[in-house]
Amino acid sequence: MCGIVGYIGSKSALNILLEGLTNLEYRGYDSAGVAVSVNGQVELYKAEGKLQNLKDVVALKKEHVEKSTIGIGHIRWATHGAPTTVNAHPHSCNCGKVAVVHNGIIENYKELRERLEKNGCTFRSQTDTETVAHLVASKFAQTKDLTEAVRLATKEIEGAYALCVIHQDVKDTIVATRRNAPLLVGIGENEYYLASDVPAIIQHTKKAMYIDDNQIVTLTPNSMKYIDANKNILEPKIEHLPWEPVALSKMGYKHFMLKEIHEQPDVVRNVLSGKLRAMDENITLNEVTLNKDKLKELNRIQIVACGTSLHAAMIGKYIIEDFCGIPVDVEPASEFIYRRTITDEKTLVIGVSQSGETADTITAVRQAKALGSHILIVTNRPDSTMAREADSLIPVNAGIEVSVAATKSYMAQVLSFYLLAIYMAEVKGKNNLEKLKHELIILPQKIEEILAHKEEIQACAKKFANSKDFIFIARGINFPTALEGALKLKEISYINATGYTAGELKHGPIAMLDESMPVLSILMLGKVYEKILSNSEEAKARNARMIALTNSTDKKLEDLFESIIRVPEVDEMLSPALAIVPLQLLAYYIAEFLGKDVDQPRNLAKSVTVE
Ligand code: M6R
Repeated sequence: MCGIVGYIGSKSALNILLEGLTNLEYRGYDSAGVAVSVNGQVELYKAEGKLQNLKDVVALKKEHVEKSTIGIGHIRWATHGAPTTVNAHPHSCNCGKVAVVHNGIIENYKELRERLEKNGCTFRSQTDTETVAHLVASKFAQTKDLTEAVRLATKEIEGAYALCVIHQDVKDTIVATRRNAPLLVGIGENEYYLASDVPAIIQHTKKAMYIDDNQIVTLTPNSMKYIDANKNILEPKIEHLPWEPVALSKMGYKHFMLKEIHEQPDVVRNVLSGKLRAMDENITLNEVTLNKDKLKELNRIQIVACGTSLHAAMIGKYIIEDFCGIPVDVEPASEFIYRRTITDEKTLVIGVSQSGETADTITAVRQAKALGSHILIVTNRPDSTMAREADSLIPVNAGIEVSVAATKSYMAQVLSFYLLAIYMAEVKGKNNLEKLKHELIILPQKIEEILAHKEEIQACAKKFANSKDFIFIARGINFPTALEGALKLKEISYINATGYTAGELKHGPIAMLDESMPVLSILMLGKVYEKILSNSEEAKARNARMIALTNSTDKKLEDLFESIIRVPEVDEMLSPALAIVPLQLLAYYIAEFLGKDVDQPRNLAKSVTVE
């Protein structure tokens, strides 16, 4: 979603801001802007659409703007007001001396705006953020102190925010604060950076400090003043950022999504490393501080997540129930938070999130925590807001994922659920999981085999790329795979794709079938193979164009299916980890064939920080 970058020091701020925003582009946005202070004047430059439009705007005054050594920048994903130039950040006040960038939502902006308008403020945009600019300006008029003005303004603001503020009358200063939206300070030599996420600044410094809720940081080129909401001085907690700038390079692949799909064998190795050593050794989950006695006491697990993470959670339910016999409920976090939920201290609540910043999931785990549940967070970002809510943490170690469509993080989440389920089963005394552990160990080679034959999937993609709709069917443990395959396809190619349990087809969706409808059957050998095969026959009898994704070598499939995507043999319980790879590739190649913006699909954001 939105992204923030700030810089104060002796270098040209403009290039740092634009480069930082470029590294946040993957998060999804629809307008961009910067505010810089040049010759003592605060100047705003904004543009709707891609960052290149902003670059074109500043290029007209490049020599002039490049003189600035202080600035704040923003990419906006529209929530309040259309994605226009006027609604783009930074926002300013009547006299134009203040510039504010903001991530999050000001919930009481209507009341604030009404009051500010009565006091003579003229609003230019439809955004909630502009109220902050006017509010800070009015507090500054009273106090002549920018830090105090921001502090007083935040006392009147309800909602979530990460804010960076500059003021023309306070030279060489940026004030930043946050509540329920991430913001960090990067520390250099006589210079500071601000960012809503690490990729914006990692090429400049690995030394950083995460700002916590309601804390305020005042930066000059040579100083950092750090206080809480009551003006108490705080001691900065400086951290080393565990990221490499190289993670943000496509490394020769056409898109980040393709690169990330290819990284999956190594992601699996990473997730297993140090936790699953040999098939005859128990799993060790060092990160899980979940005490073994407590685990035995649990009578229920509730998993909350959104989107792709929700699909990983559904696989988690299947395997935890199967291996451990503990009932598991999975619910979209966005539904969980708006009803009376029955969680207590005997319920383990698992929040799953690639970004750790998904607002619905954060709210869900906070609600469960308030009811006394133990909170386990499975995330790719141990530095995220969600991770900070955790009683126990499983970092999934997929490395930074740039493409909006989640691929390798899904693989890492699914693998983490296998480890967790086996770990819990072993704590409960189950000890017949050697075969599965062996399969896990050899999984990376099998994924590599699929990647080595990607041209076959590419050919299949070409054949079906002009379809208007797509149906994915599966049963049992691969039903979430069908949902995830369909989600990938619709996210990046905008084809209307739906996943169904194969048995449900004849209860309604079968009405949709004709010669224009591709039906992709996920046919993994095991308990439900024959059942899905007969559901596929039913679809074929309605003239649907049949595609099989299978590990069966049965020649007879060739009569039923127009295209067959083959994957290596695998234990049915582990098959989701293998079956998803060709579906990711199929979605990728269809979108690529259709010429879509694969890494930054329309309307989507990498992390959805609003409820
Ligand atoms: O960061 P999270 O895993 O919490 O994000 C949840 C969803 O927004 C995310 O999975 C979304 O569905 C992706 N675009 C999937 O590709």
